[in-house]
Amino acid sequence: MISRHADYDLSSRNTFRMRVRCALLVELTEESDLPALDWASLPQPVMVMGGGSNLLFTRDFPGTILHVSIGGLGETCGAGVVFDDFCAWAAAEGLWGPENLSLIPGEVGASAVQNIGAYGVEAKDIIAEIRAWDRQEGCFVQINPAHCAYGYRTSKFKTEWKGRYIITAVTYRLSTEPHPKLDYGGVRKALPDAPLTPQLIRDTIIDIRRKKLPDPEEIGSAGSFFCNPVISKEHFEQIVKTAKEENGPDYEVPHYVVGDLIKVPAAWMIDQCGFKGATNGGAQVYQNQPLVIVNATGSATPEDIIGLEQQIIDTIAGKYGITLHPEVEHV
Ligand code: EPU
Repeated sequence: MISRHADYDLSSRNTFRMRVRCALLVELTEESDLPALDWASLPQPVMVMGGGSNLLFTRDFPGTILHVSIGGLGETCGAGVVFDDFCAWAAAEGLWGPENLSLIPGEVGASAVQNIGAYGVEAKDIIAEIRAWDRQEGCFVQINPAHCAYGYRTSKFKTEWKGRYIITAVTYRLSTEPHPKLDYGGVRKALPDAPLTPQLIRDTIIDIRRKKLPDPEEIGSAGSFFCNPVISKEHFEQIVKTAKEENGPDYEVPHYVVGDLIKVPAAWMIDQCGFKGATNGGAQVYQNQPLVIVNATGSATPEDIIGLEQQIIDTIAGKYGITLHPEVEHV
């Protein structure tokens, strides 16, 4: 079924809770709606949106927001399924794969576009196949994830394929064989002393996330606002030197080695620059995880958020010579 809503208020459709409107919201519930859709009649541009959990609307959207709310929960999920419902299902079935990705906001379709990730696992590690409507060719296609150029929070769906494919379903690779991934972000330390199951890991990850990240039901945000930068070893050594001068000779800068390069947590730099709890109008740097900007008052404007974003970018660039890039898509 295709439903249309003109001059639609998007505040309940974006987790930052920006009070913006779009000219038209189109909701599709079946695959067969895609060939039937008259694209030329839609206000332009057309943007596909999932759960709105990784977006910052900077103004009213002049075109059409298309939401694919196709359901179906299982190894193959409809694009509109809440991703965490899939994680909960897999854990309840005793199936390994998505347990480390528990509680990430958003929907199945976006998991394949954005290559969502947490605690050492990324969506690309568990995606077996993607089904999509190819707007260019006017047909449905099955896409092999090996062709998607998956990287850190990116894929071809965000670059050269942007606007071409409308994802309708994702098939995940699940396993009855144990595949615990415990070496990232204190997961192992947080586990209770009990036999490892996908459910136990899911519950542990949920506990960790609830302690650090704002509950989207209570406070607006779009999760991590910036990507973690990757820099050269030489650049990292300079940062270590400054950090030791400021914090003492035993101080250790958190980092991950990525091949020849070093990933430094943006949260650490933002924290070091004293931004925890900093505000700009209704926007605030979240106290428990400064990589997250929140709509603290519920009435923050896009300008409040962008102003705080710019202050952080400028300060980090001045102190560390690193330009942070937002992870959240600005629309
Ligand atoms: N840190 C501080 N001060 C703080 C908080 C963190 O210095 O107040 C430092 C700590 O050293 C900590 C490090 O920052 O070890 C990293 O923090 P955390 O483990 O919370 O992870 P992150 O790198 O900030 C990334 C993802 C998250 C994901 C976590 C866990 C990105 C942009 N974000 O955050 O993803 O949940 O790792 O895997 O890569 C999201 O994308 O929205 C998201 C929440």
